[in-house]
Amino acid sequence: MATRALYRLLRPLLFWLPAETSHHLTFTLLGLFYRLPGAGSVMRALFTRRLPALPVTVMGLRFLNPVGLAAGLDKNAGYVRPLADFGFGHLELGTVTPRPQPGNLKPRMFRLPRHAALINRMGFNNVGVEKFIANLAKQGKPCPIGINIGKNRDTPVERAVEDYLAALRAVYVHADYIAVNISSPNTPGLRDLQKQENLEELLRALKAEQAALAGKHGRYVPIALKIAPDLDDSRIAAIAGLVLEHKFDAVIATNTTITRTGLGQEPLSHQTGGLSGRPLKRLSTEVIRKLHSHLQGKVPIIGVGGIENAEDAWEKLVAGADLVQVYTGLIYEGPGIVRNIVHGLFERLRASGSGNLSDAVVRARSQITR
Ligand SMILES: Cc1cc2nc3c(=O)[nH]c(=O)nc-3n(C[C@H](O)[C@H](O)[C@H](O)COP(=O)(O)O)c2cc1C
Repeated sequence: MATRALYRLLRPLLFWLPAETSHHLTFTLLGLFYRLPGAGSVMRALFTRRLPALPVTVMGLRFLNPVGLAAGLDKNAGYVRPLADFGFGHLELGTVTPRPQPGNLKPRMFRLPRHAALINRMGFNNVGVEKFIANLAKQGKPCPIGINIGKNRDTPVERAVEDYLAALRAVYVHADYIAVNISSPNTPGLRDLQKQENLEELLRALKAEQAALAGKHGRYVPIALKIAPDLDDSRIAAIAGLVLEHKFDAVIATNTTITRTGLGQEPLSHQTGGLSGRPLKRLSTEVIRKLHSHLQGKVPIIGVGGIENAEDAWEKLVAGADLVQVYTGLIYEGPGIVRNIVHGLFERLRASGSGNLSDAVVRARSQITR
């Protein structure tokens, strides 16, 4: 509670600065703080002490709780320790591309506080896979780490598979799972990879490479596909079909939306980019629900989009998600959001009388369909 009040005090200052400046300032200060002895213990005392264990097993991996950090906040694996100390059950880092690239011109991230939303067109600004791995190696893995991979902007879509394979090979041994991002709206042509022929070729190539890498390194690293919310029902069904056919390990639903539904007269709504946060909430939950109806629990779903509290997270779980992730909610609510969600989910587990969260969710799903 004290941390929430503190964040409420700090937020006007952070929001007074341009969004990206405030992001860098916050994480630079956090990085400096972590150079002090005992900094991690202070953070854990604030955020993870008395955090109830809410273990879930998904993709063959054990997570201490189902609430993860969504991709894009720590694109370069620079802040693994502080982020883990917020209490996240997993961190998805990246998107990282084979070669470094600067991303789009600034400004490229906008806050829409009245809607608890962001619009961004970052464009995969990142240090490239080599430096990313060096950063990660310095920090270790305090919780399961997903590495989200993408293609470089200057790689034509016809040759995208080469970039994904190069990134997959580079990150394979460093990841607990790998997320394949074909759904950012800010890299021209990227979303075309969600079309049937392109996706079929990509999934086949990735699965073949995964099998080769698993043999070489003696460890199977699951691969998840991250999809857009802006897909019609037939495309969702087709993607689910391909995921099942190629035995992909999970689907992450969803990335940001290019729609502007619910923004009304918001002056920033004309900004190009992906919209995240509250306006995305229902849309992404609907995609999860539809996906789940096709996948029938055979392939796990990681639900992301507009989660602000335990109720939102629960809704996504009941719609079909096995894990959830947060990005924009963290910006608006501060790091205490993780604890709030975990506590709220724990209360629901207790109220359900089930032995574990997965059973409680399955029970809640069956009550809806009955
Ligand atoms: C500023 C910003 C940058 C993002 N960058 C990435 C990215 O690099 N890769 C990716 O897969 N998703 C990226 N995302 C999308 C988030 O991971 C997430 O899917 C989306 O924001 C919906 O969740 P939210 O409403 O909790 O933010 C980004 C989102 C934001 C707001």
